[in-house]
Amino acid sequence: MSAGARRHLTSVERDLDRARIERIVSLAGSFEEVAHREIKKVPALRGRTVLNLFYEASTRTRSSFELAAKRLSADVVNFAASGSSVEKGESLKDTVLTLSAHKPDVVCVRTPWAGAADLVAQWSGASVVNAGDGKHEHPTQALLDVYTLVRKIGALDGASIWIVGDVLHSRVARSNILAFQRMGASVTVAGPPTLIPRGIEHLGCAVRYDLDDLRDADVVYALRMQNERIDQPYLPSLREYAARFQVNGRRLHPRQILMHPGPVNRGIELSGEVVDSPQAVITAQVEGGVVVRMAVLYELLEGARAIRRHRRRQAGAAARMSAPPLVHRASPPASVLVRRAHVLDPRTGTDAPHDVLVRDGVVAEIAPPGSLREQAGLEKVDGEGRHLLPAFVDPHVHLRTPGQEHKEDLDTGTRGGGRRGFCAVIAMPNTDPVVDSAPILRALRDAATREARIPSASRRASRSGWPASG
Ligand code: CP
Repeated sequence: MSAGARRHLTSVERDLDRARIERIVSLAGSFEEVAHREIKKVPALRGRTVLNLFYEASTRTRSSFELAAKRLSADVVNFAASGSSVEKGESLKDTVLTLSAHKPDVVCVRTPWAGAADLVAQWSGASVVNAGDGKHEHPTQALLDVYTLVRKIGALDGASIWIVGDVLHSRVARSNILAFQRMGASVTVAGPPTLIPRGIEHLGCAVRYDLDDLRDADVVYALRMQNERIDQPYLPSLREYAARFQVNGRRLHPRQILMHPGPVNRGIELSGEVVDSPQAVITAQVEGGVVVRMAVLYELLEGARAIRRHRRRQAGAAARMSAPPLVHRASPPASVLVRRAHVLDPRTGTDAPHDVLVRDGVVAEIAPPGSLREQAGLEKVDGEGRHLLPAFVDPHVHLRTPGQEHKEDLDTGTRGGGRRGFCAVIAMPNTDPVVDSAPILRALRDAATREARIPSASRRASRSGWPASG
């Protein structure tokens, strides 16, 4: 599988290598702040349509796909099989073809049939996300579980994760075994022999039929006892199951993390005390579901463009972290030629790579890259990949003009910047309306001319929802 953009997400096995998992986890992290805004929305998928096609009950997955799409400003069509023409006998294929008339860009599909998501991908022109297909896979659950764990314990390399319970009927188990291992964890599945599929060790996991060594685990991932899928007697009784395999206060060590995909059968696979314990991250999993599904929708629709942008931002951040200062001395050279530095100057509106000539401590010339001649006695510095600012500039202030002036305005924000020693500030576009068009930017610049105490520039929101300089 290539690590590049893919059109569908129907299985971990085929669609998710470590690089793509890490990319989605990282993207999801960048969506976290949207949930803390007053207006929890970015315009990233404005004009796109997401169709949620659910043939099975769902609380978490359906609500989080809907919320994810809405937070990205997509239009959402929710389809539930109950109450639809499916009850009159319409097939999955005909339903997909019918709803394709609404021209969805993404179809998120849950069915009780293994492989159905891949069929929908063949019938529909949209990108397809598997929201759970029978006993087969649930890839976005695996992604949100990786996301939750990475936020809790950092890299999963070397972590020991035990998946306990009804593995036989669990699409979550299959997706998570693969995803956790791809992230470097070692996985053990444990449960009664009748609920562990024969040959599961071929996926690379260890198998245990008791919980005697559960304390070896860093993470205990309990599965729901899937009563609705059990049509044969797999267990003598649920009481017997709970006695041998329930994760409870006696079996769970205080240092271990407890996960569960939900819904929980309290008193069966988990005791009430561990569900409510500080070790349980079950609510965090649900919270992570929204940002992870935002990242999946965004990645599928913005595809390679978004990935390139995200990588550039990461590379830029890494370069900024590791790059030594351009001139790292007590007394900088009086005459220096800086080549190809990205010059940001709010006063002149410069925002591009330039060569800069400083002579006797004074900026003598700023010109397009390669256009300044080298001269004897000039120190030369390679500025590629770095930003060059006229003085101390605070590049991330929240002036809140227009529309949010009761929180911060041009006067108070720039006055504060000046007091902290900055000679200019760059304002973020989280305003109301956001600064995403020329008229709003012009009005803001006019206001800044009147009210700002030190020069201010604004970052504008691009149409895709990501800030770009402006
Ligand atoms: N974890 C999960 O898939 O939950 P729902 O069935 O509520 O969507």
